[in-house]
Amino acid sequence: MVEAKLNNPTLKDNMSANPIGIFDSGLGGITIFEEIHSILPNENIIYLADSENAPYGKKSKERIIELSIKNTEFLLKKGCKLIVVACNTASTNAVKTLREKYDVPFIRIQPAIKPAALNSKTKTVGILATEGTITSDLFYETSQKFARGVEVIEQIGEGLVELIESGKMNSPDMDVLLRKHLYPMLEKKIDYLVLGCTHYPFLIPQISEIIGYNVTIIDSGEAVARQTKNILELENLINNKVSKTEQLFYINKDPEVFQSILNRMNKNFKAVQLNF
Ligand code: DGL
Repeated sequence: MVEAKLNNPTLKDNMSANPIGIFDSGLGGITIFEEIHSILPNENIIYLADSENAPYGKKSKERIIELSIKNTEFLLKKGCKLIVVACNTASTNAVKTLREKYDVPFIRIQPAIKPAALNSKTKTVGILATEGTITSDLFYETSQKFARGVEVIEQIGEGLVELIESGKMNSPDMDVLLRKHLYPMLEKKIDYLVLGCTHYPFLIPQISEIIGYNVTIIDSGEAVARQTKNILELENLINNKVSKTEQLFYINKDPEVFQSILNRMNKNFKAVQLNF
């Protein structure tokens, strides 16, 4: 069991150079990868994009758990010391099961309802997320706990992940869909918009243009990266070895769109296509 290893300081030390594993249903988790890589540049990272099965947002909880287990097994076989579930849908539906089943630390994403509700002046905040996230028990509990006295306008981002995955981030179709999803929230006078899906930060320029600058957009990327760092420190798993680090990206579908997103980072990252 990995836990036994983690509790042994010598073995922990041996594991510190092992990679951090990150998975998502596709390219959305790259928004999380960027935050993690920027505060933990000395870490080896393996990113897994299950684009073949995207979107997760419309799948049953059982299927999301099944796919999350498959992704986790792949990353554990590669020796990952910690796994970041860089997908709100898998975080809200599957992390409980993953934590029960495996002993490596899991970092999950929680939609940033708390800061939005705390800071809202209109006492009305919007959340854009997948159906799987919005209908999850964890999302319901988070809203109940952190948004007392605040109206939370929930909107399923129907179709957004599909357009992003197919490279149509800046298309007229995207503009039409975003307006359809965002106008009802604006009519309700939201002053905070929570992005509850890791794919959506790629749409911030278009979203800002539609909602204007009086509405503040929040996503969870930075908080997830900070939490990853905290847990690595706590578990004594920070990579202190001064060697060349490696960031690997695996995808189980044609990597063209994924590669174009990696190219934006100007770091020569290469996506590798493989069946898993
Ligand atoms: N990036 C995933 C999330 O954060 C997208 C879900 C999907 O594939 O529908 O929820």
